Amino acid sequence: MKLYLAPIQGFTNSIFRSYIVQANGNVTKVFSPFIDAKRYRKEGEKVLKDIVKSIDGNQPLIPQVLGSNSEEICTVLNRFKELGFEEANINMGCPFPPVATKQMGSGLIPFPEKIDEILAAALQVGIRISVKIRLGWSNSEELEAVIPILNKYDLAEVIIHPRYGKQQYKGEVDMNAFERYAKMLKAPVGYSGDICTVAQLEGLKERFPFVDSWMIGRGAISNPIIFKTIEGAEPSRKEVALAVKQVHNLLFDEFSASLSGPSHLMNKIKPYWDYFEIAFLPDLKQLVKKTVKAGTVANYQAAANDLFAKASREFE
Ligand SMILES: Cc1cc2nc3c(=O)[nH]c(=O)nc-3n(C[C@H](O)[C@H](O)[C@H](O)COP(=O)(O)O)c2cc1C
Repeated sequence: MKLYLAPIQGFTNSIFRSYIVQANGNVTKVFSPFIDAKRYRKEGEKVLKDIVKSIDGNQPLIPQVLGSNSEEICTVLNRFKELGFEEANINMGCPFPPVATKQMGSGLIPFPEKIDEILAAALQVGIRISVKIRLGWSNSEELEAVIPILNKYDLAEVIIHPRYGKQQYKGEVDMNAFERYAKMLKAPVGYSGDICTVAQLEGLKERFPFVDSWMIGRGAISNPIIFKTIEGAEPSRKEVALAVKQVHNLLFDEFSASLSGPSHLMNKIKPYWDYFEIAFLPDLKQLVKKTVKAGTVANYQAAANDLFAKASREFE
């Protein structure tokens, strides 16, 4: 079974990806959060820092690019190629309005002719190209007109997150639309969306036996050993809490070393608790709250350490 770590901007950085790969041992690919092609044109190499850091590491990394202009996208793809990557992914799923309203991410989906132009140019770069896409921007019907365009090209794979852009990350996933489009696609199809437990994945596998790869994002932040769980070895709650502690501490150390000032550090690490907290609820809710509400780095560290210690003592 092909298992992928999803790209999550602001979360699945090089340190996180590296932990996921080594702690699970069965992750086929990890995807970088998108590189904004326009930003790369303006700001240059610093935009690629996280990707460059992963080269020569243990990561089966597929870098991702986001853009609207085929020339800008190809500049980034060519740079990926120079860096040694043999495959890259194009983002056609990002739902953030400032992105989508500029015909980028899921905002590309209503413009099949633009997708055609981008793919025609991208396939000339000479590395394998895959696409990560939603069902549309305004509704689930928009992808229909894009499928014949995707089918024109020899794509490595098409990964579908079965929501449309305006739903952001919370609306219902549309499984019927996913099935319909997946069956129309020529390229191998990947599924991305709301897989948080092994039971959910088993249900999806049964319903969609034709799916080639399964991608997990938020579920892997809440449970950094979720992939291992899928292939049999059911970890205890205590082991999951320990994995969260390990990945948290790696991220905390990295952010402490690379960011200037306590507020940057706190702003970067605290959002992870939206997902980490799941490993500790409901029993340790108060300690999670104390960690997230901590006003100083020292208080934050004390609260997080208390939480991890309590989980280690009390969880089975
Ligand atoms: C905060 C956030 C940032 C994301 N960043 C990216 C991104 O950079 N590129 C991308 O293709 N998808 C991105 N996604 C979408 C995820 O890769 C994934 O498709 C989506 O979250 C559904 O899967 P999940 O429920 O397993 O997380 C992001 C999602 C979230 C919540």
